[in-house]
Amino acid sequence: MNASGRASGARGRADVSPRRRVAELRAEIERHRYRYFILDDPEISDEQFDKLVRELRELEESHPQLDHRDSPTHKVGAPPDPAFTAVQHRQPMLSLDNAFDRDEFQAWLDRVERGLEGTRNRYTCELKIDGVAISLSYVDGWFERAVTRGDGRTGEDITANARTIAAIPPVLELDEPPALLEVRGEVFYPVDAFEEMNAAREEAGEPRFANPRNAASGALRQKDPRITASRPLSLVCHGMGAVEGFAPDSHSDFLRRIAEAGLPTAPETRTVDTPDDVWAFIEHWREHRHDPAYEIDGVVVKVDEYANQRRLGYTSSAPRWALAFKYPPEERETLLHDIKVNVGRTGKVTPYAVLEPVLVAGSTISTATLHNEDQLAMKDVRPGDTVIVRKAGDVIPEVVAYVPAKRPRQVEEAGPWRFPDSCPFCGSPIERLEGEAASYCANIDCPNRLLESIAHFASRGAMDIEGLGYETTKQLLDEGLVQDLADIYHLDREALLALDRFGERKADNLLAGIEASKTQPLERLLVALNIRHVGGTVARLLARAFGDLERLRAADAEAIEAVSGIGPIVARAVRAFFDNERNAALVDKLVDSGVRTDTDVARGASTLEGWTVVLTGGLEGFTRDEAKEQVEDRGGKVTSSVSKKTSVVVAGADPGTKVDKARALDVPVIDEAAFVKLLETGELAEA
Ligand code: IVH
Repeated sequence: MNASGRASGARGRADVSPRRRVAELRAEIERHRYRYFILDDPEISDEQFDKLVRELRELEESHPQLDHRDSPTHKVGAPPDPAFTAVQHRQPMLSLDNAFDRDEFQAWLDRVERGLEGTRNRYTCELKIDGVAISLSYVDGWFERAVTRGDGRTGEDITANARTIAAIPPVLELDEPPALLEVRGEVFYPVDAFEEMNAAREEAGEPRFANPRNAASGALRQKDPRITASRPLSLVCHGMGAVEGFAPDSHSDFLRRIAEAGLPTAPETRTVDTPDDVWAFIEHWREHRHDPAYEIDGVVVKVDEYANQRRLGYTSSAPRWALAFKYPPEERETLLHDIKVNVGRTGKVTPYAVLEPVLVAGSTISTATLHNEDQLAMKDVRPGDTVIVRKAGDVIPEVVAYVPAKRPRQVEEAGPWRFPDSCPFCGSPIERLEGEAASYCANIDCPNRLLESIAHFASRGAMDIEGLGYETTKQLLDEGLVQDLADIYHLDREALLALDRFGERKADNLLAGIEASKTQPLERLLVALNIRHVGGTVARLLARAFGDLERLRAADAEAIEAVSGIGPIVARAVRAFFDNERNAALVDKLVDSGVRTDTDVARGASTLEGWTVVLTGGLEGFTRDEAKEQVEDRGGKVTSSVSKKTSVVVAGADPGTKVDKARALDVPVIDEAAFVKLLETGELAEA
């Protein structure tokens, strides 16, 4: 790693002069700004970056002679990219000051309260969206231009790309639009779509995006607007720029008016009267930070009345009338003990990190994925490194980067970790196909692959076999009682009893669990078979369309693709699965063992065909998954975020903000009773 990387460090720094440290910090911060803003490829967490900036700011404050107007502490955002036309902002786009703990935030509230003593004062509380800041201008109601923040004074013209974002209205819905209206907002990549996209990129052998913000930024800065158009970008507006003929008297008034004009605003925003109410907002969203469609990293609190904002004024880079409260990051540093590889049920070889256990976003992580060989090489993490881990979309933990300053010398000298060329489970070569990011164990009978396949077969979304977990499966394989999936239906009680740690109870429970699994319907069997691209949703579509296994097996790819909701890739994968001789023999063997091949999924009852349903809050009669299945079984689709395309929102107990969003978009909201009716009749009862 380069010298500045090592120079940073969390050491006390009493050993270097302030002048020296200021120079070090500036170089370090500039390097990270470049990686973050220009390369969209940050090397350190936001928390670590903020820490460096604060250290620098404190030094500059205690040694004013070291302060300089070009210091990164006085800069907002990034310099413009020369590839896009530079545009000067009519009014600078300012940044916000941050508070990282209660005391800091309370100190700000106290200052504001003191500064405004004797005047009526309210606060507007918003979520701090982790997106890409842009400024949109409307002239006489017509969308004129979209500009990125850039360095706060000059940004990049991204109008052509912005025009492809559905949330940006081409014309304001106002009878008498103002001569000029400039609004500031955040473009974001919806979290759900982000997860899907990253999974698809991985499948296609492309690198994953680190987070939704980077994905949004990348999509927005495409040279070809058609690429931007293909991404599900959206927008929330939260601020006013230059205006003519438009004079709201408070921030909440501004938000209300732009919403009326058709610009998207955040449904979570609340205007409140007291500092206590502000705290309640902060605490509420700390608990619910993953509910919104976008990623948030804190809240922004703004003094509501413009007259009060003017009284409080500005510092050199930020308003005194607003402050961001940052939630602690869901990224942590921990020690990477080892790097191992696993062979999955498709034979895919996935490297993963064995970590010193650490608490991230509410759960303890001790392993984290490193995705594939290229990702690993790019991140260059090595055993012995201190690494930053994060929960991507709060599901799969991943290693973001190593911390250069904390890399021990012998680790540096050991050189990059080498991806193995043979399988650790069977010794067969590990192969990588041209153009693919993934590597595979060449042996289709690799014992670990079989172990993973059986564990998947027995898992809850598949055949749901109680008593057949990882450990037991491993034991059955090791003892040679099972050589393929279907063998589990031919286990001998006596042979089980002869195994270690197997008493009569355990053996009988396992056999009963296996027997019971034979009655699982076709859709479960399809999931269990481990067919590429076939998860619960696709399996149900297939079961519903074909009704039984033999009819599906007899169908050609065209007939499969004709099923609504199934595309050519999935259709081909299903056909290819059944065409493979080994798979065909396995399926025959399973059928001969007595597994069920038909389904209860109502055939042809497509009462919700074309419907898009959003579920929110707790339902009494269904779990989330059950409710989703019920909708899908009738040909409908369940999504997690509300948009104009949503047909209906089903609100259970404690529904949250999706209901507000639905109301704002005029999407019908129904309760559980009406949902049950809808399932029965396919018709929407009036709420
Ligand atoms: S107001 C002068 N409100 O965070 C005040 N900013 O760290 C300007 N951001 O530059 C910002 N959500 O890009 C504001 N609800 C929100 C925000 C928000 C996200 C971004 C914005 C800003 C940055 C400051």
